[in-house]
Amino acid sequence: MIVPVILAGGSGTRLWPASRKSYPKQFTNLVGDHSLFQESVVRLSGERFAPPMVVTGTDFRFIVADQLDQIGIDGADILLEPDARNTAPAILAAALCHEDTPDTILLVAPSDHQVLDGAAFAEAVDAGVRAAENGEIVTFGITPSSPETGYGYLELSKPPRAGKSQPLKSFVEKPGRGVAVELVEGGRHLWNAGIFMFRVDTIIRAFDTLAPQLVIPCRAALATGAKDLCFFRLGAEAYSRCESISVDYAVMEAADSLHVVPVDCGWSDLGSWRAVHGTSDQDSDGNALSGSATQIGCSNSMLRSDRADTRIVGLGLENIAAIATDDAILVANMNDSEQVKDVVAELKLIE
Ligand code: GDD
Ligand code: MG
Repeated sequence: MIVPVILAGGSGTRLWPASRKSYPKQFTNLVGDHSLFQESVVRLSGERFAPPMVVTGTDFRFIVADQLDQIGIDGADILLEPDARNTAPAILAAALCHEDTPDTILLVAPSDHQVLDGAAFAEAVDAGVRAAENGEIVTFGITPSSPETGYGYLELSKPPRAGKSQPLKSFVEKPGRGVAVELVEGGRHLWNAGIFMFRVDTIIRAFDTLAPQLVIPCRAALATGAKDLCFFRLGAEAYSRCESISVDYAVMEAADSLHVVPVDCGWSDLGSWRAVHGTSDQDSDGNALSGSATQIGCSNSMLRSDRADTRIVGLGLENIAAIATDDAILVANMNDSEQVKDVVAELKLIE
């Protein structure tokens, strides 16, 4: 059995105004009938999976519990972080919870991605299990389509074969633009999907070696934590002493036993409005409309109204994202959609 560990503590500010600090994008129905979080949980359920462990912020505990209930998932463990310390402490805490069963396989997955081909993803998991059982850290690689600087890059040791695991030569987290262009043109790198699979003892050993500064406070946060209803709250004082760092920088870039399974599963990070536009149904001019939205003479644009009482009309727009929610309207050049994050921070827009 594989235990899914779902990371659901991020804030997703590039998708403002649909994603808010109090209700981040993973809990919204950004695409489809379920939230991205619910889709992630469903993707990692079924006969080969145990109930998931969800790691999230204290503020999101009832959203998580309600959304699990809505999709009929029983028996999930919900681990609460008093404050967000990024993915490395979250993953370490989840692994330490399973320390008594060191050969348990954990599959760590983000809660805010789209995977269109669940069957291809399931095959990739099957292909990676053997390597994980053998003590490797398994990553999942996506064929890159552009030199994105927001992703990690996985260097292959031989030509990729979908569904076949192979040793990884190197892991480069979020390179600058120039390096990203070189990596994509070189044809030997895949994007890191942000999904990892490993044995409990493998990842704890990797943290002990590569990020020992996290281990003592993280163990203390578990020791001083407390069960509260169906949740487990990590001890606040100890957890605040964990360095805030992603697992990619803390462990993956320096780990020496990484494997990769190349996978073609219709993966999208949905990290920006441009990415959401890219995976949405579009008309022949490349427009994606949702909610009460109308376009006349627009191209390559996204018009979205999340309000029943507000109609959004685009006239002659090119390459524009216009998003209306209950209390805010964003109108942005699609090419600038990565910068929404900076604007939100600068204007302190998320409550
Ligand atoms: N529980 C918890 N606590 N979850 C968190 C926290 C935290 O403090 N911070 C982030 N997460 C969750 C996010 O909600 C998301 O589901 C996942 O962890 C990954 O975090 P991101 O912040 O979205 O990472 P990223 O997109 O910058 O980079 C990662 O994903 C890329 C693919 O989307 C890296 O793994 C890259 O290498 C990778 O290419
Ligand atoms: Mg992300």
